[in-house]
Amino acid sequence: MIVAIDGPAASGKSTTAKMVAKKLKMTYLDTGAMYRAVTLALLRSNTDLDDYDSVCQVVDELELDIFDQGAKTVVRLDGEDVSQAIRSMPVTENVSAVSAMKYVREAMVEIQRNIGKKTNCVVEGRDIGTVVFPDAEFKIFMVADVKIRAERRLKELHEMGDDQSLQEVMADLKRRDKKDSTRVHSPLQKAGDAIEIDTSMLSIDQQVEKVEKFINLVREKNNK
Ligand code: DC
Repeated sequence: MIVAIDGPAASGKSTTAKMVAKKLKMTYLDTGAMYRAVTLALLRSNTDLDDYDSVCQVVDELELDIFDQGAKTVVRLDGEDVSQAIRSMPVTENVSAVSAMKYVREAMVEIQRNIGKKTNCVVEGRDIGTVVFPDAEFKIFMVADVKIRAERRLKELHEMGDDQSLQEVMADLKRRDKKDSTRVHSPLQKAGDAIEIDTSMLSIDQQVEKVEKFINLVREKNNK
C-alpha cells in the first residue's frame, strides 16, 4: 500500500506524511532527502554540475541509506549520518538543478520503488503520484499560499539557528517551485487522480485528519 503525497516545498507534506505514517504504522519515505543527499555528495566532491559524465560517476559510486529511526528520518551517505548536512543552504540552493537531471532521477526512482515493494509506505515528493508510483491507491497533492509556506520554512530555519529573512526564504521557494515545475524530467505536477488539499488555513491536525478521511473514503469505496 502506497500513500503518495506531492506538492511544492513547505506545503505541509513532511509533517503530514510523518504523522499519517505513524498513525497507520507505515514507513515514511522523504524522497526530497534523497535528492539532497546526492546534491551533498556532488558538492563535497567538487563535481561540476554541468559535467554530466562526472555527475553520473558520483551517482554510481555513492552509497545511500534512508530509514526511519523513532520519529526521525536518518540519511546516510557512504556510511556517514548526513541528516543535518542535507538541510544546509548550499544543498538547498543546488538541489533543484541536481534533481532535474535524468540520470539522478532514474537512480533515485529505482531505490524508491524497491523500498515501496518491501513495505507499506507514505511517500512524499514531487513526482510520486505521477512517475514513481502511478498506481498508488491514495494520491494527495498539497498546496499552500507562498507567503504562508515561507513563514513556515522561516520558523524551521530559525529553530535550526539559521537567520535568513522572510524575503530570502520566499525568493528561494519561488525559484525552486519554478525550477521543479518547469523541468523536462518528472516535473512537479498534480496527478490526474490526486485530491488537492490547500493547507494555507489548516492546522497540522486538520491536515492529517483530511488525509485520513480521504484514505478511509477510498478504502470504503474499494471494499464495496
Ligand atoms: O522536499 P524537499 O524540499 O526537501 O526537496 C528538495 C528538492 O528535491 C526539491 O527542490 C525538488 C527535489 N525533489 C524532486 O525533484 N523529486 C522528489 N520526488 C522530491 C524532491
